[in-house]
Amino acid sequence: MSVITQRKQDHIQALTQDPAIERGQAGFDAIRLTHRALPELNYHEVDTRTTFLNKPLSFPFLISSMTGGGADNLHTINQHLAEAAEACQVAMAVGSQRSMIEDPKAEKSFQLRQFAPTTPLIANLGAVQLNEGYGIEQARRAIDVLEADALYLHLNPLQEVIQPEGDTNFANLLPKIEKLVSKSPVPIILKEVGCGLSAQDIQRGIDIGIKWFDVAGRGGTSWSRIESHRSGNGLGELFQDWGLTTPESLRQAHPFHEQAQFIASGGIRNGIDMVKSVIMGGSVCGVAAPLLAPAQESTQTVMDTIEHFKAAYQTAQFLLGATNFEALFLNSDLILTAS
Ligand SMILES: Cc1cc2nc3c(=O)[nH]c(=O)nc-3n(C[C@H](O)[C@H](O)[C@H](O)COP(=O)(O)O)c2cc1C
Repeated sequence: MSVITQRKQDHIQALTQDPAIERGQAGFDAIRLTHRALPELNYHEVDTRTTFLNKPLSFPFLISSMTGGGADNLHTINQHLAEAAEACQVAMAVGSQRSMIEDPKAEKSFQLRQFAPTTPLIANLGAVQLNEGYGIEQARRAIDVLEADALYLHLNPLQEVIQPEGDTNFANLLPKIEKLVSKSPVPIILKEVGCGLSAQDIQRGIDIGIKWFDVAGRGGTSWSRIESHRSGNGLGELFQDWGLTTPESLRQAHPFHEQAQFIASGGIRNGIDMVKSVIMGGSVCGVAAPLLAPAQESTQTVMDTIEHFKAAYQTAQFLLGATNFEALFLNSDLILTAS
């Protein structure tokens, strides 16, 4: 097994064994919405649909990047996620494809278009790899193998510092990302992995032509804590709650809605969190950790989990009197209080 595939297995093991990796302070509880006792809507006619990357979604749900690699269980997880994404008509992103660039055996776990022929799929590479010799060639391979609609470049400076073998040279990445943006056949999305994006980060991305961001805020999965299991030096626990929550990041994104679109993710745990995210300007909502155990079980279990999110999303939308996605998106009138 390659070093990267082994690392992916270690991450899953840590998540299974340490419940405190889920931090549970994602900031959504502080936002309260205006209940409508007279919604003047038929619940069954509430329209949850939206579009993402020019494709229809049944509701604004994205399976966030998790895994892939040269081991059967990682392939099975991705197949279950892709089949469920197609059946539920939601989007899916894969985990870092560095494993398949460095080990051809891992490629199979990213050949997911056969299981999800119509839904948006997002490829994934670490931005820091652009300082380690990666460029358009590797990006094209990641996109082509997945037959992807977009490419995530993940930004994970904290994780790399805590990781024993981490790549920590984040200097001068912007010109390399800019070059990739100009050559990529699909949109490039800048994504954190659980520490959020600030207004300054978003401005830097916009300046080099980025049109999509995934804020991936803190309060859900803590990568600092996951890596602390492997580093054992205490730094990972000290930084386990570092960063901006998803609501904080969405507020930071507010001035930029004319220039870019935003994916809300990080600590989204139910359909009410999703509705709050859309109200705060998230075009789509990404969920990772809650889908890991279902994906290890079966496609049906992933579908059931997604349908549970959808039922809560539709209920909250109904109770706000919001007919469709447009009635929710960036509609601050729906917020009662936000402490
Ligand atoms: C098991 C697991 C593996 C992950 N691997 C990646 C990855 O390879 N690349 C990436 O960009 N994010 C990765 N993430 C981060 C998620 O995509 C997401 O940004 C983060 O977990 C916050 O979402 P959550 O709170 O819903 O888990 C991973 C998350 C999990 C739970």
